[in-house]
Amino acid sequence: MDSVLAEILTIADELLRTEKESPRAPKIRAEDMALGFDLSLPATGKSEAEVLDLLRQVVKRTPKTSGRRFFNQLFAGRAPMATAGEMLASLLNSSMYTYKVGGPNILLEWELSKKMCSCAGFKDGDGTFLPGGSLANLVGMVLGRNRALPGFREKGAQGKRLTMYVSTNGHYSVRKNAGLIGIGRENCIDVAVDENGRMDPAALQRQIERDLKEGALPAVVIATSGTTVRGSFDSIPDLADICQKFGLWLHIDGAVGGTLLLHPQYRDFLTGSERADSLTWDAHKMMGIPLTCSALLVKDPEILFDSFKEVADYLFQADSDHLNPGNRSIQCGRRNDALKLWTAWQRLGDEGWAQRIEKQMSLSRYAAKRISQHPKLVLCEQPSFITVGFYVPGKSSAEICEQLHVSGEAVIGYGDYGEHQAIRLVTMNPEVSEAEIDALLEAAVATAAALPAAAVTST
Ligand SMILES: Cc1ncc(COP(=O)(O)O)c(C=O)c1O
Repeated sequence: MDSVLAEILTIADELLRTEKESPRAPKIRAEDMALGFDLSLPATGKSEAEVLDLLRQVVKRTPKTSGRRFFNQLFAGRAPMATAGEMLASLLNSSMYTYKVGGPNILLEWELSKKMCSCAGFKDGDGTFLPGGSLANLVGMVLGRNRALPGFREKGAQGKRLTMYVSTNGHYSVRKNAGLIGIGRENCIDVAVDENGRMDPAALQRQIERDLKEGALPAVVIATSGTTVRGSFDSIPDLADICQKFGLWLHIDGAVGGTLLLHPQYRDFLTGSERADSLTWDAHKMMGIPLTCSALLVKDPEILFDSFKEVADYLFQADSDHLNPGNRSIQCGRRNDALKLWTAWQRLGDEGWAQRIEKQMSLSRYAAKRISQHPKLVLCEQPSFITVGFYVPGKSSAEICEQLHVSGEAVIGYGDYGEHQAIRLVTMNPEVSEAEIDALLEAAVATAAALPAAAVTST
């Protein structure tokens, strides 16, 4: 085992060096992936050396999502020391349902929940860590459902049609979750957005009134703080007023933008968060924590417990409920996602997070400036967050992204910016330099210029 660990560290070292020295990672087509190494499972086990060699091959062929040419998703880069926490969490192999098994990891998870709740303005709140923002949204929606119809957990909908509301720019997990929690996807209602991509509060109110007239039970509004493509922030005070007026649960999907609560100025993007009932906050996005690390924070700890508690004498045998977070979780066995975040927080402190956010935001402003100065590029809109939409007139954004990937110049995606399908540059990795942003833009222009006429479509 010792020699395997030493060799794994060597492989890790090689990966980090490659990321730094040769960040280009040309696309490998799925059908070519197995050339040179065999992915199939053997009947007879291999030697450690052979398995290590296979692992090397896997690492070599894996897209470098933490490298400085990855602009594709809402996660990128690595927070200092977070990976160390992650590796130790694997070795410790705790399960986070009881203090008996998790020990100090339960307590440090608490510290994280308390701190993140205090950032959100949930004074006596609680939290639970989940594998992803989609599931954190699910929990927020379950809590809102249970408050709207207290017997739901035991008896189901009892003939009631519950409705939930999210902007047309909200994340797809919200609709998917509505299909999972007995609400029905059709009862998850899209609300129109304004020109800045924020939910239109007047449209929300009209929709709630219409649904009430039709006998529905409006239950939850999901405000998005940092939409996936345009990076818009719904106005929490406006939505909170409506929720208060009609008695709805307000959940904030801050999977992307919740992290701004750690910045003394940018936290204003989430002004009014203390009026919400629950909040999703992904630490594996802006905070650069290895996937997955998502928190669902709630203002009223009781409802979290009441919504998930179960009797399990074989599991909850010692210590108070408080020390056994399994009774507040949708999971039984649960990975220790807290240690890596806690480790990075120890290293950076609140100030380090604020600096990281500052860099991410300034990179998006820089990219926007360079795009608007470039004669061959068009900026879709001035970004206020960390996603920057742009296009090359007359060329297909999708094809440019594909060719950038094929050549290894960059991994980047495209999204819908109203009239335009545009390249979506995400300035998530604070290690990226301004020169690397310039290089990406030039690569996009050169790639567009080389596109054959047949591939050219209007944006
Ligand atoms: C706004 C928003 N909410 C929720 C999610 C889902 O988060 P996860 O990928 O952690 O499930 C995403 C993912 O990008 C997102 O952009």
